[in-house]
Amino acid sequence: TPKYLKDYRPPAYWIDKIDLQFDLADDQTIVTSTMKIRRNNDVSDKLTPLVLDCRDLDIISVVADDMVLCSADYELTPETFTLPRVPELFVLEIKNRLVPHNNTALEGLYRSGRTFCTQCEAQGFRRITCFPDRPDVMTLFSCIITAEKKKYPVLLSNGNPVASGDLDNGRHYVKWEDPFKKPSYLFALVAGDLSCIEDHFTTFSGKNITLKIFVEHENKDKCSHAMKSLKESMAWDEERFGREYDLDLYQIVAVNDFNMGAMENKGLNIFNSKYVLAKTETATDTDFMNIQRVIAHEYFHNWTGNRITLKNWFQLSLKEGLTVFRDQEFSSDLNSRAVQRISDVRKLRTFQFPEDAGSMAHPVRPESYIEMNNFYTMTVYEKGSEVIRMMFEILGRELFRKGMDLYFARFDGQAVTTEDFVQIMEEASGIDLSQFRLWYSQSGTPRIKVKREYDSANRTLTIHLTQNTPPDHNQSEKKPLHIPVKYGLVSLSDSNGNSEPSGNSEPNGNSEPHRNPEQNDHILHLKEQHQTFTFNDIAPETRPSLFREFSAPVIIENDFSAEDLAFLMANDTDEFNRWDAAQQLYFMELKRIIGLLQDEKASNPDKTYNDMAPPLSEHLVNAFRESLCNTTLDRALIAQTITLPGESEIAQQYDPIDVDAIHRARQIMKQTIAEKLATELDDIIDLCSKADPEDLSHEAMADRSLKNIALSYIGSLDSTSSHQIIHKHYINAMNMTDKIGALSILCNSTCEESTLNQALAQFHLMWREDPLVLDKWFTVQASSTRPGTLENIKALTCHPDFSWRNPNRVRSVMSILGTGNPYIFHRKDGNGYAFFAEKIIQLDKINSQIAARLAGAFNHWKKYDLQRRTLMQQQLEIMVNTPDLSRDVYEIVSKALSA
Ligand code: ARG
Ligand code: ZN
Repeated sequence: TPKYLKDYRPPAYWIDKIDLQFDLADDQTIVTSTMKIRRNNDVSDKLTPLVLDCRDLDIISVVADDMVLCSADYELTPETFTLPRVPELFVLEIKNRLVPHNNTALEGLYRSGRTFCTQCEAQGFRRITCFPDRPDVMTLFSCIITAEKKKYPVLLSNGNPVASGDLDNGRHYVKWEDPFKKPSYLFALVAGDLSCIEDHFTTFSGKNITLKIFVEHENKDKCSHAMKSLKESMAWDEERFGREYDLDLYQIVAVNDFNMGAMENKGLNIFNSKYVLAKTETATDTDFMNIQRVIAHEYFHNWTGNRITLKNWFQLSLKEGLTVFRDQEFSSDLNSRAVQRISDVRKLRTFQFPEDAGSMAHPVRPESYIEMNNFYTMTVYEKGSEVIRMMFEILGRELFRKGMDLYFARFDGQAVTTEDFVQIMEEASGIDLSQFRLWYSQSGTPRIKVKREYDSANRTLTIHLTQNTPPDHNQSEKKPLHIPVKYGLVSLSDSNGNSEPSGNSEPNGNSEPHRNPEQNDHILHLKEQHQTFTFNDIAPETRPSLFREFSAPVIIENDFSAEDLAFLMANDTDEFNRWDAAQQLYFMELKRIIGLLQDEKASNPDKTYNDMAPPLSEHLVNAFRESLCNTTLDRALIAQTITLPGESEIAQQYDPIDVDAIHRARQIMKQTIAEKLATELDDIIDLCSKADPEDLSHEAMADRSLKNIALSYIGSLDSTSSHQIIHKHYINAMNMTDKIGALSILCNSTCEESTLNQALAQFHLMWREDPLVLDKWFTVQASSTRPGTLENIKALTCHPDFSWRNPNRVRSVMSILGTGNPYIFHRKDGNGYAFFAEKIIQLDKINSQIAARLAGAFNHWKKYDLQRRTLMQQQLEIMVNTPDLSRDVYEIVSKALSA
């Protein structure tokens, strides 16, 4: 049964203090919890029972105020522990038994290899002990860990170590105390035999903080980038937001088995090792960037999440949207802002837009959930961050900072809501955000139609904007949103043009564009469904550049021609919009080719798309050449500009989706460009091959990204010589970026089976001992679109190095198939669907959280042709009718079916 936001009630009892003791052993763990409990007299009286959350706990003993209780004194169900009558203030001691090595859900206390570790967010603490497992119950924690000293020399929890020593039988203990109250989801424990890398950071008030990263001994040489990133994050949060770290110790532990990316537990972050470990031989440039971003994200949570936490889980975006915004700004300030924005928008468009249009669509602040873990979504995280970014744009940098300062001052130590956040921003700025709030409660991606009108007699340019959000199961009617449209006017005489609109020429009462002298000057405020903005004294041939830096998470339907787009690609001063103009140009051409393919098929049903090759427009090749050969541009930006939209991004423009035509059109585009621009591509590859393979500067990474994308064009050609070029690059690669880059191109080329197999075997032999590199070996094969890929994927899941118990390994094959390789997943015979559903059902027994993630691949089944739709529906039915299906998978599958 779902939980609803409208049913929220404050907790009936508070837990002022919890003292935990964990006695760890190989076969079992005994947990002893001693809680100081106090009735919340605001909402409870002496008749209010104490109900604690629990999940399948094996209770050994219960003592209330020194009275030993028997099992008749309390009520235990699989999910609750209830004491019917309790005093206003009392101490409750509960002892229970856990078997961490059997915990394959990786939630609560579990083992990753030999290491004990925990994951409590969102509701894992109840798998450890009975507790009001909700974020608005904030408690002081202490934690004693005891274990065999030889096997588990390192014993960690939140806060500061306050006592330690040896015990009998070769055991030892450490006692930890966290001076800050926290909700149970931020509790953490780690025990194992780990290496520690130590460093220090001096805060702006002169406090010396000890920084420790714990990893398996063999990974000691892969931590320096994570440590550097941590220090950069600490300095940046001081500089940009005035936030200082609050404990004397900051610890990070890397584990190999982890459901998500990382976890911000107070003073003891636990990370998926993918987001810690890196050296250039084993990690790609993208890995290095991701590590910097995720380290920062978890660090920033200390203020946005931990010091100020959530009143209930519906408010998740209060911490996640805001912290993603902060990590995006951090990455932008430290690296290239334009490249960062492009990659964030690509992610939003590829993953969040479809989510917002599918069966799992939900507002940034959801109103209900069946399984909370299913709501750690692109909408809560990425769209949530866009919502913060829009407030940042509407308020301007200074007022936004003023609002943040007020937020920290007002709510420190409290559990609050997104509404509290918006209110504080209004209070700090004096700007009315009442309509803006709809971004939190209304789901769906708004579509903005742009229509231009130029009056050459009066030299006025009029822009008509219309917004529409399609109805969905959350709201049958959508209201107009407050949408900030950052803009500029681009003409040859003054390509920086920013003239102000002369107000609103719409006759029927449309409001003036929102104006405030302290605000960013170059924003149009779209608030009505239709609004018109007129600019005076505008030269002919002036193009508006709208939604600069992607100022709102919307789908923009421009009225631009190919010439307009080529003009903006060349002349817009906004780097994001220059890139976006290129993307729009590719889309336009891809759609044209897809149309031609479908027409040809309609008149020749026996022909396959592979036998068709409609020619590419000359203007596209020319625009591509201009971008490729622009020597004044940052090469990282060139690389982004010459990257075509992915197949899933193209698919969003279609209903029904023709996966085969989309695949073929993109292939034709790549091959034609590769043929026509062979010399230019070769020159670029040469030019960009000079970087030192160990160099992680922006310039070196930019060169590699441009080289590898250029190589992928060459590799798309069906010729032995092009395969030889890629193979040579594979052999000569001196770091993982280039190695896996070339191998992945080979996997997608038409090269000889034997060439590919030899390269793959060589790679496997070299890296079989390194799980993160081996994940890449699985991934490049699962991403292939060569014939036989599905059969190969099936074989890969039976490979001795494959494991259903390791989330990274499962993702390296299954998530790639389900979301990264539509051409194979949506094979017309339905074998992709059947294999996928069968594995979801099996995986559900091991790790339902990961199984539910995979099940999302079926969320858009209604957007495909009848045959595929029917085949997907069949698999959804099989899943939903599986006995003992987890809540996690049930929610995804049942919502898909009923959408
Ligand atoms: N709060 C973590 C982060 O964003 C994510 C943890 C989510 N875990 C989960 N099981 N849903 O950094
Ligand atoms: Zn987070």
